[in-house]
Amino acid sequence: MNICVIGAGYVGLITALCFGKKENKVICVEKDLNKLKMLKNGTPTIFEEGLDELLKESLRVASVQFTEDFELGIKSSDIIFIAVGTPTNDNWDVDIAQVDEVINLISPYIDKYKVIVTKSTVPVGTQKYIKIKFLENQVPKGNFDVVSNPEFLREGKAIYDFFYGDKIVIGCDSLKAEETMKKLYEPFNIKMVLTNPETAELIKYTSNALLSVKISFMNEIANLCNKVGADIDVIAYALGLDKRISPLFLKAGIGYGGSCFPKDTKALVKISENYNCDLDILRATVNVNEKQRVLPVIILKEYYKEVEDKVVAILGLTFKPDTDDIREAPSLYIIEELLKSKVNVKAYDPMVTKEIKNIFPDITYSYDMYECLADSDAVIICTEWSEFYNIDLFKAQELMRESVIIDGRNILDKAKIKEANIKAYYSIGKGNIRN
Ligand code: UDX
Repeated sequence: MNICVIGAGYVGLITALCFGKKENKVICVEKDLNKLKMLKNGTPTIFEEGLDELLKESLRVASVQFTEDFELGIKSSDIIFIAVGTPTNDNWDVDIAQVDEVINLISPYIDKYKVIVTKSTVPVGTQKYIKIKFLENQVPKGNFDVVSNPEFLREGKAIYDFFYGDKIVIGCDSLKAEETMKKLYEPFNIKMVLTNPETAELIKYTSNALLSVKISFMNEIANLCNKVGADIDVIAYALGLDKRISPLFLKAGIGYGGSCFPKDTKALVKISENYNCDLDILRATVNVNEKQRVLPVIILKEYYKEVEDKVVAILGLTFKPDTDDIREAPSLYIIEELLKSKVNVKAYDPMVTKEIKNIFPDITYSYDMYECLADSDAVIICTEWSEFYNIDLFKAQELMRESVIIDGRNILDKAKIKEANIKAYYSIGKGNIRN
């Protein structure tokens, strides 16, 4: 089929390349000329497993073409995916200005029947809104249908999820569009949920919201564990044996981050408010996460009482391992709090990017974890990168001025902590050690 994907960001790029792999001809339209140049040269614009190979192969077999030419993209295609950014404002409302811009740009080129699909996460009601906009822009009624087809891609595993995901959700109010979408997704052999647009739009939010609820709930139980002497990992294991609960997304830590959970939970709270239908559990989930992500600073202050001029090492800056994404990472909030208290911050992350150096130009960036630990008064583990699991605790103990470890991801072994004579160790729900 002939497909156009608008936006070569995270979702758009993966969507374009994965459809290209399934015998489709894809045109990916991107207005950022720098990004475009990189992609045309076969250079990935994001760090994602398998992306480099897939991009190069797509260019070699010409299954995907990158361009800034909207007219070419729209006129050559039967299905058009909108995959532009939909950020939340400070008041938690979703900003769909980029979607609006796309509708206005593409309207003049919808010269015959096309299916327009929202791939970006958009507020409930956006499919209806887009239909009205097209009609206002004089696009003939019979020339288009609008479909909601949200993505469920995990960063780092996005290509895998595209080909082997658990579900494909298609929200349509036209049989013709539904048939086109079914044909497009048939080769993927993934269970399809066919429904109306509002349900599809809400499935996306509910999915991310429920996973966030699970995490925040486990984080609260973890905090209780530390008070009563219970172990959160054993609790999570036991709960996970119950098929009704599932073992996934029960890992306690310093909260969720990334481009989806923080944004989508807030957006859904706001959407529900707009309909006078408060989602109290979700609001609490957001609050718990905001407290949880700065918990290490509270622990540090309880330990030292006065933290000014202390040196604190941060291990891990990205919101999760195996990505270079720092969006809404707990590390950002922790560093901000530490700087407010005049703490000297050193940081190490295997994927440290220019982006974080722009946010915090004045902290010290280390080139390896031991260099980061040297002469520090405490370390906060913010991301569970695999290299941190194997940290040599004897060496850490020697290098640090005071070996205080705040393990925000529960990755260290308490027996080894004791063996290495670490001065203080704090976990999230697995107990603390003071020597
Ligand atoms: C998520 C969804 O999984 C995906 O389906 C959606 O479309 C986009 O958002 P992603 O943001 O890539 O994907 O990350 P994910 O691996 O789901 O983790 C999200 C956050 O939750 C991370 O900060 C992670 O550290 C945290 N998390 C996850 C926990 O704290 N505990 C867990 O048990 C699982």
